[in-house]
Amino acid sequence: METLIDSHCGAQLFAIDVKDFPKDATVLRQNVEFQNIDIRDENAVKSYVRAHKFDGIVHLAAVSRVVAAENDKKNCIETNFQGTKYLAEAAAENPDCWIIFGSSREVYGEQSVFPVKENAELLPLNVYGFYKLEGERIVRSLVRKNCVLRFSNIYGNLYDIHGRVIPTFVSTAIKGGEIRLESGEQIIDFTYIDDTVASIIQCMKMLQSGDIDAETVHISPGVANKITDIIDILRDMGFKFAVRKNPPRSYDVQRFVGDTVHRQQIFGDRSFIGLREGIGKLIKLVRQKS
Ligand SMILES: NC(=O)c1ccc[n+]([C@@H]2O[C@H](COP(=O)([O-])OP(=O)(O)OC[C@H]3O[C@@H](n4cnc5c(N)ncnc54)[C@H](O)[C@@H]3O)[C@@H](O)[C@H]2O)c1
Repeated sequence: METLIDSHCGAQLFAIDVKDFPKDATVLRQNVEFQNIDIRDENAVKSYVRAHKFDGIVHLAAVSRVVAAENDKKNCIETNFQGTKYLAEAAAENPDCWIIFGSSREVYGEQSVFPVKENAELLPLNVYGFYKLEGERIVRSLVRKNCVLRFSNIYGNLYDIHGRVIPTFVSTAIKGGEIRLESGEQIIDFTYIDDTVASIIQCMKMLQSGDIDAETVHISPGVANKITDIIDILRDMGFKFAVRKNPPRSYDVQRFVGDTVHRQQIFGDRSFIGLREGIGKLIKLVRQKS
């Protein structure tokens, strides 16, 4: 959102969340009108959207981790599906209101042909992927002007939730200790947050101007990084830590690399930040903050 504010797009910005903005996020606090709303509350969501007559909605609220969805399926269904339905129904009351739905590469599940194209058969393997797919379907069926963006393992956000791969590895590397790998064999198309945000902003502008409509695009660099590449990069940077390998978890997808052709057709062929550079940027940010 800070990037959106910096881009001077001239739009008035509103945000809802069950959590408040971080205390030190002063730019957000000064530039975005915030309201504490739980998207599981149908009345609250619908009266808020009705009252504001938005040009568009970027819907990112979610139980956003695979493991959290497995551990609390009810909350995942209520938030990622029901909450999405309430928002989509509210958006649909105004035919000019567009919506961007923040979906995930988890909707593809375990594929056998790489890179994965957007029209691959959708075979979600876990609760999170299943309800992201249901969320996509409800948004597409209810809102005329829509775009589904399927994100892939975003990193680089200082306010990221605890437990995600790269923030956890980076913080362990900085503090010392043991990095735990679940299987250690995963291939992941990691995406630096600035590239994700730039794609969302571009999508907002194109939906607003009517240049795109009803698109499904995955947003990732299209690079097959081994999870152990992160370990190698951190060790090359001089960090010292132990590594322990656990058996794979049944609900984790082991391999994903997104095809970038459709993204480039829609949003242009801007190159995405590589893993080594992105980890370097994150480490710099963490050190500046502490
Ligand atoms: N981060 C990734 O690697 C990644 C990958 C694929 C898809 N996504 C999707 O992108 C979106 C943004 O991801 P993120 O990394 O910023 O996740 P995040 O968890 O940091 O942000 C999600 C936000 O939703 C809010 N939220 C949760 N339940 C809510 C509810 N009931 N009502 C209102 N707000 C609620 C949370 O408080 C949080 O601020 C999510 O939809 C996520 O599923 C993220």
